[in-house]
Amino acid sequence: MFVLVNLKTYPCDPVAVAEAVRDVNETTDARLAVAPQAAHLERVAETGVETWAQHVDPIDYGSNTGHALAESVAEAGAVGTLINHSEQRLKLADIDGSVQAAQRADLETVVCANNPAQIGAAAALGSDAVAVEPPELIGTGTPVSQADPDVVEDAVDAAAGVDSEVSVLCGAGISTGDDVVAAGELGAEGVLLASGVAKADDPTAALEALVDPL
Ligand code: G3P
Repeated sequence: MFVLVNLKTYPCDPVAVAEAVRDVNETTDARLAVAPQAAHLERVAETGVETWAQHVDPIDYGSNTGHALAESVAEAGAVGTLINHSEQRLKLADIDGSVQAAQRADLETVVCANNPAQIGAAAALGSDAVAVEPPELIGTGTPVSQADPDVVEDAVDAAAGVDSEVSVLCGAGISTGDDVVAAGELGAEGVLLASGVAKADDPTAALEALVDPL
């Protein structure tokens, strides 16, 4: 299972969480990575953890004030990027452009979507993975696998119907090892999560509990 920890703009210590992710990654067969804010990418990558960006823009070098250029994200140490997170929504054409920008910079891609229908559209854009995250469950502690397991299964079917190579992740409300196992049983190859680790008093303990049953 791929476990991608999104730090959003939570007021956690990104380096401390990155070190926890790196260390717990050493203890498990699961693949753990962390997605800090853009401003923290370099410091996080220096820990040796697998580092992801939270977003890249559909742009190339040039006149793009305030944008995230895929090449700069990669130079800062990221090996992959989220695209179209529910908190950073893009138009379809821009999702396509961001996937192409990321691929140009050799970044792995996960395109997020709200529901199975959008997953089908996202899967058609050639990203490495897609992630289904019902927005209403984000940050609730109620996992999608429990609240609406059909969403995960339907997303897996929708993605497979478009591109048999694309991986499907799920996210929203995931905070325990049982949640990660349930996601896998529904066909997901990984999970996206944030508050369960970024807001935990002890991120190492939270991560250990997440991967323990895997
Ligand atoms: O990107 C993952 C995120 O949106 C899920 O957040 O806090 O429900 O794990 P959370």
